[in-house]
Order: sequence, then structure tokens, then C-alpha cells
Amino acid sequence: MGGIVGYIGDKQAQPILLDCLVKLEYRGSDSCGIAVLDNSIDLYKDAVRVRELAKVAPQLSGTAGIGHTRLATHGEPSKANAHPHLDCSGNIAVIHNGVINNSQRLKQQLTAEGHHFVSETDTEVIPHLIEKYYDGNLEEAVEAALRDVDGSYAIIALTVGEPKLVTAKKDSPLIIGIGDRENFIASDVPAILDYTNRVIYLEDGDIGVITKDSMRISRGGTEVNRKQHLISWSVEEAQKAGYEHFMLKEIHEEPRVIRDTLVGWVSEDKPAVDLAVMRGGIESMLILACGTSYHAALIGKYVMEELLSIPVRAEFASEFNYYGQTLARTGAIAITQSGETADTLKAMKKLKDVGCQVLAITNVVGSAASRIADQTIYTRAGSEASVAATKSFMAQLMALYWLVMSYSKIDARRLADLIMELRQLPEKVQQVLDNETKILEYAKYVSRYECVFFIGRGINFPVALEGALKLKETSYIHAEGYAAGEMKHGPFALLGSDTPIVAIVAQDNTYEAMLTNIKEIKARGAPVIALAEEGDEAIGELADSIITLPRVDAIFSPVVNVVALQLLAYYTARQRGCPIDFPRNLAKSVTVE
Ligand code: F6R
Repeated sequence: MGGIVGYIGDKQAQPILLDCLVKLEYRGSDSCGIAVLDNSIDLYKDAVRVRELAKVAPQLSGTAGIGHTRLATHGEPSKANAHPHLDCSGNIAVIHNGVINNSQRLKQQLTAEGHHFVSETDTEVIPHLIEKYYDGNLEEAVEAALRDVDGSYAIIALTVGEPKLVTAKKDSPLIIGIGDRENFIASDVPAILDYTNRVIYLEDGDIGVITKDSMRISRGGTEVNRKQHLISWSVEEAQKAGYEHFMLKEIHEEPRVIRDTLVGWVSEDKPAVDLAVMRGGIESMLILACGTSYHAALIGKYVMEELLSIPVRAEFASEFNYYGQTLARTGAIAITQSGETADTLKAMKKLKDVGCQVLAITNVVGSAASRIADQTIYTRAGSEASVAATKSFMAQLMALYWLVMSYSKIDARRLADLIMELRQLPEKVQQVLDNETKILEYAKYVSRYECVFFIGRGINFPVALEGALKLKETSYIHAEGYAAGEMKHGPFALLGSDTPIVAIVAQDNTYEAMLTNIKEIKARGAPVIALAEEGDEAIGELADSIITLPRVDAIFSPVVNVVALQLLAYYTARQRGCPIDFPRNLAKSVTVE
């Protein structure tokens, strides 16, 4: 995990590399480093964030270079383990994202051949392998070295005497950015968007070579053509636009995201879509995802079962990869914001291997998920910088609602009502945002506790899971999401005045049961904050405090509820002084299993 960047052109490389690295930090960063090529390779790295490195780094002169932000996998965050890594001679430098599975064996072999290692990383075997095979041509040496490697990688290598950068990828994201008398390599688009919006997505097995005025991609020695994409995200969009944190800005973008994501999908009177994965012979559906995207999958399950009347399983991709399932006549959907989550990609490949049609729902154009899938629905959340997913989750929900409604055979009047409600959701979400100061008050209260339960039933059970995940990752409070009816089967033992409960009360067939659950909880002394629809008087008698939400059809209640819980998590984390956008130990894009 982490991010990589490479630059070659007419300008000094160091400031450009450092600037791009700052934009890659959202991918996770506990250390970083750069190497600049001139007559020799000058390198500077440390176990610090990029901005700190930028303050203390000496001036490294040269117009070609590579930079890396690391999130430790092999070996602790330290100067020695930070990238770039060098070969024995110091003439070859490499940065790497991914994991080399056979690094131990390679290290032993190379050590026996006289190579000397100075870090605990798996990456360090790569410059040594390149050194072993180097015979005056870096590209050929990289290709030979990678033949020995088993694992995932996006790498960039440079060497003294060859004014070029060589890059290669397998199961890790990598793009080339085309500039004017300058070219770039990066893990993703936002890193280089300040410099160019013309990008090429590399495929697994590709080797790319860039100089300041040329770019070539090959596979097994044969040149290949890859399409150039013009990126329409503005630089400003990838910045905070005046908000204190990306997370808050991104939550506030949700009305816009709903509009954008639905634009073009929902025509005047009906949703319009034609997806093979939803057609012909499908008797059940499997939805795979991780983390927050898994919660969207769970909500998708409820919506599909209600509006399509087919059995739906929502599974963690990371679990699905390790047990056998019956997949006959099953349609499959993979949900992944980044489109690069290793577990989700692995699950998709497994599905493809057994002949399943796979639909990807992703936010990143050209991402690995979209390339593996038979069909892709792109959500239009725009670049999401905060590690905690908010607007991308909202866009996933919209994609699922739209997809299901497109294929639903429910009564035409009910469908028309739902479409009308769907169109009104941006305003409803805006109403939740307008209630922000009240949620801030509740956040001050929640921030005093170390354990919080979130409970819900039915379609709002996944919202409880998501509320808890958001709170724990941003505020470091131990939070648990629970199906309200399950509380009495164990968690009741934990209840008391120091365990507040956030209860999601929806106006659907779960309503009465929820009220009973809240009474049981109150009887055990736990304070209750309820999320309830405006006009719900009964809840006023029961809960200690209430976050009032606009009225929506129960099927859309997750949309308004989740926004309130995102704000609750955000303000609680802010109250506790947490590094909201970059929580400890987490990465935006989890590209290892
Ligand atoms: C939590 C969060 C993660 C991701 C998960 C999957 O806020 O963002 O739980 O949802 O890592 O990521 P994607 O959707 O990129 O596959």
C-alpha cells in the first residue's frame, strides 16, 4: 500500500515529486522518500510524513526522479525500510507498491550470490534482481527481474546513465501521465492532476518506459497500444474547498453526488438500463465487497429482495475467497469505490473463472475492477480524499437503487412513486446537513465515551454497521453495530450508563420492535440517542435525545440516516482532536490481501 510517483522532464524533479506525494498520502503513509537521477542517484527518505520530509530534505538536483509513500507491510516504519531502495552499487533505485510473496527465498538466493540487504522489506529484492540481470538495458533487466518475482507490484526503476523511468505492474494500480516535454508515472490520477489530465492506465503485465518526450508500453517485448483518457476532475475538486477536513467537504458534497450519479440514469418517468448481468436465467444474486462498500452491498441485498424478489447474498470479498459456494445461475456484483481493493479483485477473478457474469460498481474510471468486470457502473462521487468513505458510499447506494429499480417488476404506480422520491433525495440530504449544528452537540456528548453501540433493524441494520465503522475509524472510540434484536443475546451484559446507544428508528415494519428494544435498553440504564423521522412522537417519550430526519420512503431511509451518522462520527472525531482524514493504520486503497 502507499503510493508511487515518477517524473522526467525539463524541470527539477524534487519539488514535483514531493508535491505529488502529498496528494498520494491518502493511500496511507507512515514513511516516504525520493530519489533523483543526475550523474548519480541522490536519495532522501525517512519515517515521516511527506510535508516533514520536504522541510528537511537537502536539495537533490536532477530532472528525473521517483517518490514513494509507504504504509508498512514488511518491517516497521523506519528510515531503512522506507523507499526508494537501492542495489549494491547504488546505481539502481526502485520504488514499489504491493507484496512480493517469495521475497524471503529470493533474499536467501541473492545473499548467497553476494548481494547485501539493508532493510527488512520485501521490495529490496527488486533492485538487487535488476542489478543481477542488468546488462546495459534497464527495461530488459526489469523484465528479467520480474520473471523471478511472485506477488503484486507497481514499480518504478531508474538507473545511472539511462535518462528514463521504467515501470511495471501486476495487481497494483499504475498510470502514466502525458505532459508537454515531461511525463509522469503514478499510482493514481489525483497525484499528477496538477500537471496533466492526459493519462494511460497500465494493465497487469505491462512494462512502461518514459523519457521526457516519449512513452512506450510493451508486454513480453512487444509494443502495445493503450488508450489515453482525458480526466475531467478539476484540481479544485481534489482539494478541500474551504472545509476544515476532506471528510466534512465530502459529506457536504453528497446532495451533488446523488444528483450527478442519477443524472442520465433516471429518465423522465422511468429508470433506463440494460445490463447483461441482470438478464436471462439469473435466479439469485451475489454481492461482494469490503468495509463500507460491504455495507452498501447489504443495503443492496434488502432493496433487491424487496423490489426484485430474488434471493441475494451479500458477502465480504475477503471471506468469499476462502470457501466454496454454489454459483450456478447467480449474477454477481462487486462494489468497490477505489476499484483496486485486493480482496474484491481476487473475488471477481474467482467468479470470472467459474463463468459468472460480473458487474462492477466503482468510482474510478479504468480501475482494475472495471477492467475485470463484464460491465461497470461508474458512480460519480468524484475523487474522495478522506480515508473514511462517505460520498462514495452514497454514490454506491444510488447505483444500487437505480439498478434494482430498472429491473423491478413491482406495481407501476409504486415504482413511479419511488422514482419521484429518488429524485427528491438531494433535498432531503441537504435538510440533514442543515441540521449539522444539532448533530455537533450530540457529538460532543458521544465524544466523552469509550464504547458506543449502534443498533438498527431491517434495511437500517447495515446503516448501524456503517455508523459504528465511521465512528471507530475516525474517533478511535470502540463502536459496535448490532442488529437491534440481537442485543439481548449477549451485548446486554455490557450495557450501563457509560455505553450510549445510537438507535436508528425507521417507519417500516420494524418500528414497533425497535421501540421495544429501546425500552429494554433504557431499563438497563444505557442512554439512547435515536435517529427518527420528523413527526414521530412515540420516540420522544423513550429516547434521551433525538436526531430528527426528514420523511422518506422507508426503502430510502438509509440515505438520510447514514448522512446523520457520518456527521456524528466526523464531529465526534473533531471533538477528540483526531487526524480525521488520515486515521492511524488505515489506507484509502487496500491493495494487499
Ligand atoms: C471505510 C472505508 C473502507 C473501504 C474498504 C473497501 O470508511 O473506506 O472500509 O470501504 O477498504 O474499499 P473499496 O470500496 O475501495 O473497495
